[in-house]
Amino acid sequence: MANKQEQEHLWWHEGVIYQIYPRSFQDSDGDGIGDLKGIISRLDYLKWLGVTAIWVSPIYPSPMADFGYDISDYCGIHPMFGTMGDFDDLLQQVHTRDMKLILDLVPNHTSNEHPWFQESKSSRDNPKRDWYIWKDPAEDGSEPNNWLSVFGGSGWEWDENTQQYYYHAFLKEQPDLNWRNPEVQEAIFDVMRFWLDKGIDGFRVDVMWHMIKDDKFRDNPPNPDYKEHMSTYEKVVPAYSTDQPEVHDIVAKMRKVTNDYDARVLIGEIYLPIHRLVTYYGHDNTGVHLPFNFMLVSEDWDARKLSMKIDEYEGAIPPGGWPNWVIGNHDQPRISSRVGHSQSKVAGMLLLTLRGTPTMYYGDEIGMRDVPIPPEEVQDPQGLNMPDKDLSRDPERTPMQWDNSENAGFTEGKPWLRLPDNFRRVNVEVQRDDNFSMLTYYRRLIKLRQEEPALHIGDYAPVVSKDSLLSFIRKYEDRQFLIILNLTHKPCLFRAEHHTYKGKIVLATDPEREGMQIEKNISISGDEGIVVLLD
Ligand code: GLC
Ligand code: MG
Repeated sequence: MANKQEQEHLWWHEGVIYQIYPRSFQDSDGDGIGDLKGIISRLDYLKWLGVTAIWVSPIYPSPMADFGYDISDYCGIHPMFGTMGDFDDLLQQVHTRDMKLILDLVPNHTSNEHPWFQESKSSRDNPKRDWYIWKDPAEDGSEPNNWLSVFGGSGWEWDENTQQYYYHAFLKEQPDLNWRNPEVQEAIFDVMRFWLDKGIDGFRVDVMWHMIKDDKFRDNPPNPDYKEHMSTYEKVVPAYSTDQPEVHDIVAKMRKVTNDYDARVLIGEIYLPIHRLVTYYGHDNTGVHLPFNFMLVSEDWDARKLSMKIDEYEGAIPPGGWPNWVIGNHDQPRISSRVGHSQSKVAGMLLLTLRGTPTMYYGDEIGMRDVPIPPEEVQDPQGLNMPDKDLSRDPERTPMQWDNSENAGFTEGKPWLRLPDNFRRVNVEVQRDDNFSMLTYYRRLIKLRQEEPALHIGDYAPVVSKDSLLSFIRKYEDRQFLIILNLTHKPCLFRAEHHTYKGKIVLATDPEREGMQIEKNISISGDEGIVVLLD
């Protein structure tokens, strides 16, 4: 049974996941866009860094209206990224290095150019008509209900030919599949089997909480907290268009497909508050293994608020469920832009010392920041559709900064998105041999985490001290670590209630602190984080 297996420590409990946005990691053919051969050429770097699993955003054939999240063939490779031969090579090379490969699965919607949609829209009585969500107009000819697109405007698109609307939670080029239709379910499960048969180690499932909609298609309620600067999507609360109870049946079926294979992982992209998020572990852990926990990308950077949320999360995880933490991704501002350069080491320490599988985003390890993109160069549809709202995701999708050659070693052509002016200072090559660099720091943190069971599978307990400090203990058998993080710029004193901690600093944001013995009161600098091995 799944439950017994859960108790043993599996690779995705112990490891560190690294997300690659394939357009931006490494170009091998000079077209300015990253590709599979490029990724292969950088695997030794990832191995050296110490990450154990790679998640690659979509690499499938796609018209690229949403940069690959609009798929026109689920079982192919976009020629821009390479061939199926290159993919097989990538998978093998990842495995040779004893790492894992996770692919993106996008089941909520296809591209409008997918043959399924082409058939579906061809006529009302096409056998695939019901594979998508088609509805008659309201009495006055307008949209069937008030559901909105995440990328701006209505969620409904009129089809002149068949005189009905279809629903798209994202672009009109991304029509939503009808997951109530068993044929759709089977078609996507076959896609899963196609890749699992090849030997991939799991899926990250795109927008899982969107997959099933209210069967009565009721109007969403207006959002009382809506403000002008927010995305127009937030004008209504998606009470009926997302997170419907029936989604859990679908997720359980996906899990079942996954369970037919050995040691694969199923991860769900789910942006929901903690108590709804954890329902995606499913009844008796028959849901996803890891419902992505985005708390570190969305909560205020405040020690009291964060530690409260961490405890709320720890307390909400069902027995047998495994926690996880995400520090960034291709949809969110980069961590060092969000919390600031001075806090970014603290954020890295938090990610890599909390209990649960960490997911980091390419470039975080060198402190890459969001790159300002001039309006005429914006490519992200979310940015283009709501130009006055600062919602473009291009800034966090810029090319990886490898070295100080032209285009940072990313491409010999013109990069699809520009590089920041400071890439000659902020890159892998210059940081590699610098003992004080972000890269060295990340590598040492990952190494410590992976060497110490207390840090990767150990228990977690909060430690209450000052308001500006976030502190906790990780423990495995008789080995214990105390982690203290100052989330402010001001120095302060760590003094725990009811306890005296004695030990030695084994890792710190400032390496000069390492080796120091500590006892009782510990003075902590601004922006400092320390890992203490307790006596
Ligand atoms: C997910 C992806 C995002 C994409 C959207 C639609 O949120 O991470 O990049 O635009 O789904 O597929
Ligand atoms: Mg290329």
